[in-house]
Amino acid sequence: MRMVDIITKKRDGKELTDQEITFFVDGYVAGRIPDYQVSALLMAIVFKGMTNREIVTLTDRMEHSGDVMDLSDIKGVKVDKHSTGGVGDKTTLALGPMVAACGAVLAKMSGRGLGHTGGTLDKLESIPGMNVFVSDEQFRKQVAEIGCAVVGQTGQLVPADKKLYALRDVTGTVESMPLIASSVMSKKLASGSDCILLDVKFGNGAFMKNIEAAKELAIVMCKIGNALGRDTRAVLTDMEQPLGFAVGNALEVKEAIATLHGHGPKDFTELCLRSGAIMLEQAKIAKSEEEAMKMLKKVIADGSAFEKFRQMVIAQGGDVSYIDHPEKFPESKYVVEVKAAKDGYIKRIVALEIGESAMRLGAGRETFDDVIDMSAGIVLSKKVGDKVKKGDVLCTVHTNVEDHAQILKDIEEAFHIVDEFVAVPPTVHDYIH
Ligand code: URA
Repeated sequence: MRMVDIITKKRDGKELTDQEITFFVDGYVAGRIPDYQVSALLMAIVFKGMTNREIVTLTDRMEHSGDVMDLSDIKGVKVDKHSTGGVGDKTTLALGPMVAACGAVLAKMSGRGLGHTGGTLDKLESIPGMNVFVSDEQFRKQVAEIGCAVVGQTGQLVPADKKLYALRDVTGTVESMPLIASSVMSKKLASGSDCILLDVKFGNGAFMKNIEAAKELAIVMCKIGNALGRDTRAVLTDMEQPLGFAVGNALEVKEAIATLHGHGPKDFTELCLRSGAIMLEQAKIAKSEEEAMKMLKKVIADGSAFEKFRQMVIAQGGDVSYIDHPEKFPESKYVVEVKAAKDGYIKRIVALEIGESAMRLGAGRETFDDVIDMSAGIVLSKKVGDKVKKGDVLCTVHTNVEDHAQILKDIEEAFHIVDEFVAVPPTVHDYIH
């Protein structure tokens, strides 16, 4: 078999065989096929696409290009969730303990943030002492004992994605449905859970800019997961405005804690409850979403979801006094309110602008080497649909950056206030199963 024949076949819009896909993935990971040939094939895939069968084979080969987690010796149904990324997305921090308190087992590998989106690992690291890189043995022990662990990737999972993603990044081939779907799903499948819930976000603050593209991606990813033997479902959720109120690492941890106590923002709580209900149904812990919803509300009300979060923090070396007394998290030097310039209704809060501003305030990274200021970020006081009066606080900015005047201006401009009434948008727009 020759790589050039595989490239020309895809260039001409033909379907690749399983053997050809295996040849290219295995050959690339082993260093037998050079970057320039793989780049050409990736560009051909961008233009000609792939059939569902090709995508499933590609994902399967990528998943098995390195270590695969085997969690079968751990009792209980292992559930996982994945968000395609957004602004203020602290869902795992609240949802994980909620479903674990109901009896599901969450063995989750998360990532760091880059650009305008935050990463779960960074948020967890705002808790002093919290270790997100535990040994494989400790990860398994923690999952088996308390049913909940959120850590960085252990072992050599999916080396094919690492190599392919780095190449895609510099060859203009990131934006391709088959390549995104296989990249995300190969990592999820290799993490070893029985069920996967995908939170595919759409809007200006998300990877997918509109609901149609998000739905297409969600459907493809669900098909891959189900074809490869995992119960995979997806929710399509709004990322036109930030999720919840808080954007920034320690600020988001505090909001997740409030949510576990039953005092979270409405949209964020709704997303956690709906996602959790689906996950409990997937794990066959509840017979229906309604039953699952009752279980989730109960573990919030009786404190067991919060207790599960505490247990996870203690197991990973975190100082639990910060969880019990969130006012202990260090405050930024500057805490500044941004106020409404006129009366009206909030029509938009541009998530991308808020995410980028939070990064400039110190809450995120522009490059992988940047150091995060855990106290920095933005806490919204208003959401889309809210009525405001001139002078009302729109949000509070937390930063240690001295020169922040322009950032405050940009944040104010992210809020669009109109005269006409604006309806509150739904958080979950669709459910693919
Ligand atoms: N996230 C991933 O993990 N892979 C992609 O290709 C795009 C986003």
